[in-house]
Amino acid sequence: MPIDTAIAAPAWDDDLPGRYAWLRPRLAGAAACTELDFHLPWIDAIRRLKAQRGALILAHNYQHPLIFHGVADMTGDSLALARAGREADAEVLVLCGVGFMGETAKLLSPEKTVLLPAPEAGCSLASAITAEDVRRLRQRHPGVPVVSYVNTSAAVKAESDVCCTSGNAVEVVESLGVPRVLFLPDRHLAAEVAKATAVELIAWPGACEVHEAFSAEDLRRWKQDDARLKVIAHPECPAEVCAEADFVGSTSALAGWLGRHRPERVALVTECSMADNLRADFPAIEFVGACQLCPHMRLVDLPRVYAALRDLTPQVEIEPAVAGRARRALERMLDVPPAARR
Ligand code: 13P
Ligand code: SF4
Repeated sequence: MPIDTAIAAPAWDDDLPGRYAWLRPRLAGAAACTELDFHLPWIDAIRRLKAQRGALILAHNYQHPLIFHGVADMTGDSLALARAGREADAEVLVLCGVGFMGETAKLLSPEKTVLLPAPEAGCSLASAITAEDVRRLRQRHPGVPVVSYVNTSAAVKAESDVCCTSGNAVEVVESLGVPRVLFLPDRHLAAEVAKATAVELIAWPGACEVHEAFSAEDLRRWKQDDARLKVIAHPECPAEVCAEADFVGSTSALAGWLGRHRPERVALVTECSMADNLRADFPAIEFVGACQLCPHMRLVDLPRVYAALRDLTPQVEIEPAVAGRARRALERMLDVPPAARR
């Protein structure tokens, strides 16, 4: 993890390695383990500052292991973070993730201060569609409800009937009780959801730049080379990649599958910090496969989390004209009862 030298480093203290001895095994196997001493002053300063501020740090499963294991109070997929932020008894939330995750947290907790350490952290899905695109789609398909993936801007959510995540998309689509929905912006998630429902999905041609980098050919080769290998993929992967996988699910569903099946070796076909973060819980599993990093998630680092807590900035603010309607689409999603585990 590179250090931003513009933010002064907290001082070294000889007690730090002893006090954080618990952290080293959590990072075993991740590159972050070898450089841990270098980062301990930041980790310690963040933990002290967040206690003073009464802040809660929420980190997505794709965050760097130093953030995920070192400073986060709560980790999870987009759905879990959305729920946790809303339910948290804290005045300040620090969202370690990308822009749409910060907006979601603020929409669901308008009374809380929501800090986004890297506000420029975008997402190729969120930037694939605008509010104007949604309005035009509605004109072309009058009366067809709009289901938006949470990986969208607040302005797009405001034009939507309901949001979904990769963890609840099928239930959300079916909750509307209609034969057709507009499903945006991820065409690959749409293809995966279409396999599990009779509802017709009219998809938008957006895609995640990280998951599109995996190829079905790679997965076939890994499995040919190693008959015992299990391959599990995120539904943002192209359909031909998902077709080669033993299981397809949200980031938390992938972790849940590992817990239930405990394979000897697994290739996680998703952002590769996820494997680094999961090693701590599954030391007996060997994680193999290609590494694809999300360049947006990587913009969050320890010095920026520290600076956000110290200065209480950058804060997420959402235009009031957009916020009310966007919040309704998110709350409607959270009201959809979860399905029994698939
Ligand atoms: P999850 O909701 O599965 O965590 O996915 C979010 C995301 O951005 C995946 O690329
Ligand atoms: Fe967006 Fe893909 Fe990065 Fe997830 S991994 S935040 S979908 S660009």
